[in-house]
Amino acid sequence: MLSQMLYISTAVGPITTAVTGTILRSAQLHNPANGITGVLCQGQGVYLQVLEGERSQVEALYARILTDKRHQDVALRQHENIRARRYGRWAMAHIDMANQAFPAGVEAAGARQGVFDAYTVAVEQVLAKMDELIASGKVMNAPVV
Ligand SMILES: Cc1cc2nc3c(=O)[nH]c(=O)nc-3n(C[C@H](O)[C@H](O)[C@H](O)COP(=O)(O)O)c2cc1C
Repeated sequence: MLSQMLYISTAVGPITTAVTGTILRSAQLHNPANGITGVLCQGQGVYLQVLEGERSQVEALYARILTDKRHQDVALRQHENIRARRYGRWAMAHIDMANQAFPAGVEAAGARQGVFDAYTVAVEQVLAKMDELIASGKVMNAPVV
């Protein structure tokens, strides 16, 4: 059974291109063999990641990611069975969300000290924003599977 997971986490230390680069290299190394696709977004000290694949593979990867010392406060926002992959084109797409504005209502609902708070914004809004960024060509460093 295919499933899709979305979690949020907080980077330990500043998110740099070097750190994100090593994470993406791991993802691109392991994900194809494990049948995982997805997207990794970064913004304002926070990671958002969507993982898709066989449920057991998604769970195994999430268990590994949970113990990764490069981030903390990992919060599972959603894990549901799906019929088709949303991000099947990418072993792990990468989107920089740091300077992205969200619709006014969304920001108000998820604001924490005026900063977009991925921990509380509705999952649907987060996914919609990712789709918008992908559609507008904001995906970086994303080899095709
Ligand atoms: C935010 C974040 C996202 C990650 N995403 C993936 C991923 O999609 N696939 C993966 O294999 N490892 C991912 N990792 C890395 C794993 O936690 C782990 O370090 C890695 O899989 C171990 O493989 P390595 O021996 O090649 O480093 C991620 C780590 C972090 C902090």
